[in-house]
Amino acid sequence: MKKLILITALLASPLFAQTKEKIEVPYVAFPIKMGKGFDAVQANCLMCHSFGYIINQGRQSKAFWRGKIDKMITHFKAPIGEEAAKSVTEYLYKHYGNGKLK
Ligand code: HEC
Repeated sequence: MKKLILITALLASPLFAQTKEKIEVPYVAFPIKMGKGFDAVQANCLMCHSFGYIINQGRQSKAFWRGKIDKMITHFKAPIGEEAAKSVTEYLYKHYGNGKLK
């Protein structure tokens, strides 16, 4: 029985191997800008995907952001009302816009 425990311990020990080097996990910042309209994003967008999914698009025009919201509504059946769609568009354009309307 003791042998069996010893063998098991020896076989399992590599699982607990430790490295000497310090491992650094890259830190990826997802700067979420708080502000007017963010509550609408939280309530209407984040139930399906993360915020990163949205801002990975980079800075875009107002029409682009509105188009994405319309796409969410028509293609993915997102239950987003007109008021919320407007708030989210304003928010995204203000914080992640490129200054162009179209
Ligand atoms: C009902 C679920 C749902 C909701 C709610 C939703 N989305 Fe999406 N969204 C998706 C899916 C599914 C995809 C992935 C599409 C793909 O991979 O092609 C996506 C992808 C995206 C993308 C990536 C670009 C693209 O065209 O696919 C953006 C930007 C986006 N959503 C913005 C929004 C915004 C802004 C809101 C809130 C107003 C929102 N989404 C709400 C389902 C949703």
